[in-house]
Amino acid sequence: MCGRGTISGMKSVICNWKMNPPTFTEAKRLFDVTKKLAAVYKNAEVVIAPPTIFLRELAKGYRGTRVEFSAQNIFWEESGSFTGETSSIQVRDAGATYVIIGHAERRALGITDENVQHKVPVSLKGKLDPIVAVGERVRDTHGEYVHEVRNQITTALANVPASKFKNITIAYEPVWSIGAPEAPDTNSVHQMMLLVRKTIADAFGEKKMKSIRVIYGGAVNNENAKDILSVPDLDGVLVGRASLDPYRLEAILQAAHDA
Ligand code: PGA
Repeated sequence: MCGRGTISGMKSVICNWKMNPPTFTEAKRLFDVTKKLAAVYKNAEVVIAPPTIFLRELAKGYRGTRVEFSAQNIFWEESGSFTGETSSIQVRDAGATYVIIGHAERRALGITDENVQHKVPVSLKGKLDPIVAVGERVRDTHGEYVHEVRNQITTALANVPASKFKNITIAYEPVWSIGAPEAPDTNSVHQMMLLVRKTIADAFGEKKMKSIRVIYGGAVNNENAKDILSVPDLDGVLVGRASLDPYRLEAILQAAHDA
């Protein structure tokens, strides 16, 4: 792996393509653009999470070291009779070195905190670095959301061996900002970065908290990337829609490179 934003001091940009684009030809075109931009903005770590069906073909043809690949999901068992599922070992074999676990769009389809807890050690065993997505569904006024996020984090990390905390990224993504027109303001993002770190320090200790990466996701775009990437204690961004648009992606990579 070439990356590890915190250790290298680089900011990470995780490009979550979700179920886009429709064909491999278009995926290859988007990959080629992203690869070229990654070569220009060398001071950013670039990770692409394409649809699983495109992963092997994209990774196979890539000889560079600037881009890494992530799966968007894995199953919590390593093999067996699980129709329609994909294992950590299979996506690693296809070229992924990361996996997004517990994305809000998976949670909306029924993935629970306990499922996330099972997937994290399975991904580590399969030599994938987990990007664990957490975030409240609604921002209530009496602070219930704080418990929701803290609980998601402590449950997700409960079975992580001490030596593996350095392989974990927590992606804080409030559900209400994913797919929304605007991201929360930078103060609010900073507060949540601190909450994530404090939660890890309280539950697992200061040393493990320091070795973990914490990133933000939800409505990151060309207009807000500079501000969001200048938030203290933030190691990068997880980008959905804007990662599909070369113009918007370039501005985000430039902001990460300059941060
Ligand atoms: P968005 O998605 O950037 O399109 O809001 C973010 C995400 O789901 O990770």
